[in-house]
Amino acid sequence: MTQTHKKLFIKTWGCQMNVYDSNRMGDILSSLGYKTVDTPVDADMMILNTCHIREKATDKVFSELGRLRVHKENKEAKGGKMLIAVAGCVAQAEGDFILERAPFVDMVFGPQTYHELPEMILKASGDERVINTEFPTISKFDHLPDVHTIEGASAFLSIQEGCDKFCTFCVVPYTRGGEYSRSEQEVINEARRQVDQGALEIMLLGQNVNAYHGKTADGGTSNLANLIRKISEINGLERIRYSTSHPRDMDDELIAVHGEVQKLMPFLHLPVQSGSDRILEAMNRKHKADVYRDVIAKLRKSRTDIAFSSDYIIGFPGETEQDFEDSMQLARDTGYVSCYSFKYSARPGTPAASIQAALVPDDVASERLQRFQALINEQQAAFNKTCEGKTMPILFDRKGKKDGQITGRSPYSQSVYVNGNDRLIGSIVNVNITEAFDNSLTGNIEILDDETA
Ligand code: 5AD
Ligand code: SF4
Repeated sequence: MTQTHKKLFIKTWGCQMNVYDSNRMGDILSSLGYKTVDTPVDADMMILNTCHIREKATDKVFSELGRLRVHKENKEAKGGKMLIAVAGCVAQAEGDFILERAPFVDMVFGPQTYHELPEMILKASGDERVINTEFPTISKFDHLPDVHTIEGASAFLSIQEGCDKFCTFCVVPYTRGGEYSRSEQEVINEARRQVDQGALEIMLLGQNVNAYHGKTADGGTSNLANLIRKISEINGLERIRYSTSHPRDMDDELIAVHGEVQKLMPFLHLPVQSGSDRILEAMNRKHKADVYRDVIAKLRKSRTDIAFSSDYIIGFPGETEQDFEDSMQLARDTGYVSCYSFKYSARPGTPAASIQAALVPDDVASERLQRFQALINEQQAAFNKTCEGKTMPILFDRKGKKDGQITGRSPYSQSVYVNGNDRLIGSIVNVNITEAFDNSLTGNIEILDDETA
């Protein structure tokens, strides 16, 4: 008997946690007979998994909805039905507004409600519009099916969600809610399943992942250091990473783990947001720039080959030229492999959005952002250059853009392109790096056996 699947199209914006969530929504819906497809044409259900972190988030959702609406109308004209859902952080923050402004949207629901999808779909199929932006008392993680979908050899695993830190610029505590950590056993079981399915690398995810404090089997409380030690014992797992961290939660035990656990990659994304103590205080980051410098120094001592990336916000209200110069100096002192920098954008409902004084004019912020990015580009190119002539283990995960090319990631998450057989996708292979570019590296595969030649 052939079974016809219903078609599910998911479009994901934003952070890696959203990518993880989208995969898990796909998992739940597969038990209801849906199969993910990569075009919205003729889909039975579409989910936009949205991000609210920076500017124009809501506008982007509405313009995408405008495009998708056509597909829904086409399908309805043929007597079919298509459910359109908006999920994620924009749904959480702007749920009512979306339903009001986009009458063809059937469902809006926030990040903590995905386990309730089957009931929500049932309601929406009966022509009821669904809005679900509650923070349920039970955790979605306890009610999601086992993980089925991993993205190739590198898997995301959410271990912690939400944030209690309330940085004044940030919507996360409002859209994702308070900090929640999954239990150690639950995380380890999921990691094992991912490795069984072919994952060589696991990225442990959380908005505040180094604040992880999941329960242990004996009723105690674990921390990220312990969890990493345990996960590193899984046979077949080669690489561990974690993201995103807060400098204040980089305790000595976690720093030591970077030296102890070789599977932990020598690369850490550690957002600092600003190098000015005055601005850090206004952002409610609760540490000084020198604390960050100390953490970086300790990490370098623990793992000598470690390198860093970060996030900086440019043009926070009150930022003077000197404050900005302090950010430039912190970036110079640290020296990044890569670094994200964003022009400050006032997010509705956050404390910083009501600051009236000393707002940084847009052209000033743009000009500073350019200067900052020029510095980072220089640092990135310089770091890439130091890789020339080295041999690096590369996890190949995709075909390259050109025929006969495959691409993968170095331990520092740099993109690496080589000429190689597709069969190497899904494995880690040593590559002699021959040439560095601004954003990528290229080289030759070092060891080839007869099978893969
Ligand atoms: N404006 C600009 N950038 C922001 N980020 C978070 N909130 C804002 C905002 N209101 C940036 C921070 C954070 C990253 C994910 O997004 O740098 O680390
Ligand atoms: Fe947002 Fe700050 Fe929490 Fe990070 S630590 S999610 S920036 S509030």
